[in-house]
Amino acid sequence: MRTLALLALAALALPAQSVRQAPGRNLWILDTGSSSYVIGVNSAGALVPVHWGGRATNFEDFALIPLSNGISSFESPEDMTPDEFPAFGGLRFVEPCLKATLPNGVRDAALKFDSAHIDGNRLEAILRDIKGGLRVTLVYEVFPGSGVLRRQAIVENTSAANVVIENLQSGVMEVPPSVDYRLTYSAGRWAGEWQLQQEILAQGKKILESREGTTSHRMNPWFALDAGAATETSGEVWYGALGWSGNWKVTAERVHDGRTRVTAGYNDFDFSWPLKPGEKLASPWLYLGYSRHGFGEMSRTMHMFERENLLQGGAAKLRPVLYNSWEATTFDVTEDGQKTLADKAAKLGVELYVIDDGWFGARNTDHAGLGDWVVNPKKFPNGLKPLIDHVHGLNMKFGFWVEPEMVNPDSDLYRAHPDWAMHFPGRPRTEARNQLVLNMARDDVRDHIFGVLDGLLTDNAIDFVKWDMNRPFGEPGWENVPEAEQREIWVKFVRNMYNIMDRLRARHPGVEFEGCSGGGGRIDLELMRRVEEFWTSDNTEAFDRLKIQEGYSYIYATKSMMAWVTDVPNMNGRTTPLRYRYLVAMQGSLGIGGNLNKWPDADMTYSSKMVEIYKWIRKTVQEGALYRLASPRGTNGLSSTSYVAQDGNQACLFAFRDHQQYLRMLPALRFQGLKGDSRYRVRVVEGAFDQKTGTVLSGDYLMQHGVTPELTGDYDGGLLVLERVP
Ligand code: DGJ
Repeated sequence: MRTLALLALAALALPAQSVRQAPGRNLWILDTGSSSYVIGVNSAGALVPVHWGGRATNFEDFALIPLSNGISSFESPEDMTPDEFPAFGGLRFVEPCLKATLPNGVRDAALKFDSAHIDGNRLEAILRDIKGGLRVTLVYEVFPGSGVLRRQAIVENTSAANVVIENLQSGVMEVPPSVDYRLTYSAGRWAGEWQLQQEILAQGKKILESREGTTSHRMNPWFALDAGAATETSGEVWYGALGWSGNWKVTAERVHDGRTRVTAGYNDFDFSWPLKPGEKLASPWLYLGYSRHGFGEMSRTMHMFERENLLQGGAAKLRPVLYNSWEATTFDVTEDGQKTLADKAAKLGVELYVIDDGWFGARNTDHAGLGDWVVNPKKFPNGLKPLIDHVHGLNMKFGFWVEPEMVNPDSDLYRAHPDWAMHFPGRPRTEARNQLVLNMARDDVRDHIFGVLDGLLTDNAIDFVKWDMNRPFGEPGWENVPEAEQREIWVKFVRNMYNIMDRLRARHPGVEFEGCSGGGGRIDLELMRRVEEFWTSDNTEAFDRLKIQEGYSYIYATKSMMAWVTDVPNMNGRTTPLRYRYLVAMQGSLGIGGNLNKWPDADMTYSSKMVEIYKWIRKTVQEGALYRLASPRGTNGLSSTSYVAQDGNQACLFAFRDHQQYLRMLPALRFQGLKGDSRYRVRVVEGAFDQKTGTVLSGDYLMQHGVTPELTGDYDGGLLVLERVP
């Protein structure tokens, strides 16, 4: 209903088409509803960017299409003029979108505009090399009214001989010139992903990338640019996120003339893709947006866009409360032990019970078993069925863990197929967590993995799969294919992973998936199209989580962010109260990962209450608009988020204090996104605020004056819920 209402509103506000060509001119306006992206052909026959920013939809305003000249023989017009898709060649020295070796060793490509056509919300612009060896189709798709568009490049060998693509980017984005732009991005490491970084771009290039075969824990494939002063609520922000789960690269470049541009696409490191005559290679999709109101609007735009267009079940279903046995049992899983945990989880109100690692093969430690996806008969003498029936009998869904892309050398699979592991012949096979990566770029390996998973899902009443991947690629050799094709391994592996998931989803439409790679090592917008949720980080320690979750929330939807309550002291030795741990995890899709066998009755009782409260607010949290009111990166020891329901009838505010700081008053937290003239009844659910349960306040008061948390102890937390008074 809401989507329909929104669409109806958007239809009123939008011109008839989101992609339009100027009459009689090579100029196109792409209108997302809140931003415009304009491209045109200049007098030199090049397709160039004309505008990316606030909404500007009048063709007459774009009469002039820029063509710049340099100031000396060291600066050619082709290098100085922003180009929509520059290839390496001629006198171009900016970061290219395409680099190729053409027949006879020619490494110079010059792309000129050829033609374009519009099909609904999609624009295809075709560029051709002046000598005809390459054809590039730039594809743009607008999601009308969403604020988001996406672009992709498809390169085709139109020569009669082989060519080799050495670099293919999805595109380049130019932001308005002559400002000192600040780059915002996410960096980190295992158990410390999603740490926000910001830096002013000086002349040169800042490269964000992964060479690990996954998106990696170290960086995630998105970027945001602002003029240096954008906040949560103000300032322009230009942003982009790649849909690609393998090696990626984002290059933010401050050119010597003051221009700022960003390329994004496949990582060209160890990249090489031969194209026979007529063959094509497509880049990943690159999603683009623009915010006039800071980073907060950026995140809300992306969250809604993802829920409605990418995330599996994103607009249709709320995420269930999950229990996962990993931190409680590690590999020590048995039928009885799992049943006992399931009984306890059910008492808390858990809706999805997940058995993690350890149920298969000789998997008693991380030294053995990966690859052997048969139920361990000692741990489960009658297979998984008794446990699954038990869990279903408790009215919970049942999920299990797999890590299908991996193999332990100590496994039957490896003993039968040592050649299936990635390696270079005759050279060491470097293990990480005692495991090797299967060369899933091979179609026989892909089909084996599909067959195994398909069999497990066919033979067992499984509702949910946690798909893990616990090491990066290493020694990415690929015997038995011609040497010229061996570097395709990086891309073909990822494509085959998508292929397996797509086939599994088609054959088992009721089964849900969680994407995991030792936490947040593989998260992006293309994998999001195949999963219901992601495992955010292996670090479940609540204080660390605040920053991890904040970084995640910049681009990725709240609903997709799994957050567990686990035991203390946690991996970093910190102990926080159970209330704090619940409130931190309730800011995402709630899970519980503690050892329930050790939880005292009081904790069990408190947990049941918190799960019930979560269910009361979860639609608001999972599908509402997120406002980051106070960052955990701030210096006053207070952080806060709030969520406003799509229908505006409920809002909730979470507040956290890290350390008690003598004489330090906590600042008021001002709601955002409420209706000024509506009235809201306050309910103080956890902790204390300067308002009491039952008080009725206006939206204006709550947004202009705010509420002040009265949190006194170390790691104290509060939750306040507003309900609109009819
Ligand atoms: C890494 C995951 O992130 C954990 O949650 C857990 O599933 C382990 N792997 C199991 O080996």
